[in-house]
Amino acid sequence: MDFLPLGDRRGSLVALEGQRTVPFAIQRVYYLFGTKAGVSRGYHAHRRLQQVAVCVAGRCRMVLDDGVSRESVWLDSPTRGLMIRSMVWREMHDFTPDCVLLVLASAHYDEADYIRDYQQFRAKLASIE
Ligand code: TYD
Repeated sequence: MDFLPLGDRRGSLVALEGQRTVPFAIQRVYYLFGTKAGVSRGYHAHRRLQQVAVCVAGRCRMVLDDGVSRESVWLDSPTRGLMIRSMVWREMHDFTPDCVLLVLASAHYDEADYIRDYQQFRAKLASIE
């Protein structure tokens, strides 16, 4: 999703509003930063959580896998958000040292909502279908 950059000759600004710019009520905001060179993150899916990821500085590559197809997307713009629905496996790779990845989430942190094992993720998907 593309965000409308606001601002004026002094510089830019992006405003994100729950249930408007972002299609859910925002319950949590967190950001990944200081990722060490060569380190990949994520490797999990969420049972119910919906998220929007925005790379506000630097860049990284997000891999999304819904059990049918696997896509790889570069996140490198503060005006572009990536929607990550529930039951989508995500991996994050190739972080630049300056990367700050902002994540808006539809619920508070709940470890029970995570699926951290890929085979378990595929089995859960199969049980839903
Ligand atoms: P994790 O989701 O595994 O991070 P990554 O995206 O890098 O794979 O979370 C890393 C640690 O931070 C883990 O111990 C859980 C904790 N954590 C919270 O306490 N609250 C949060 O909102 C998040 C996202 C993680």
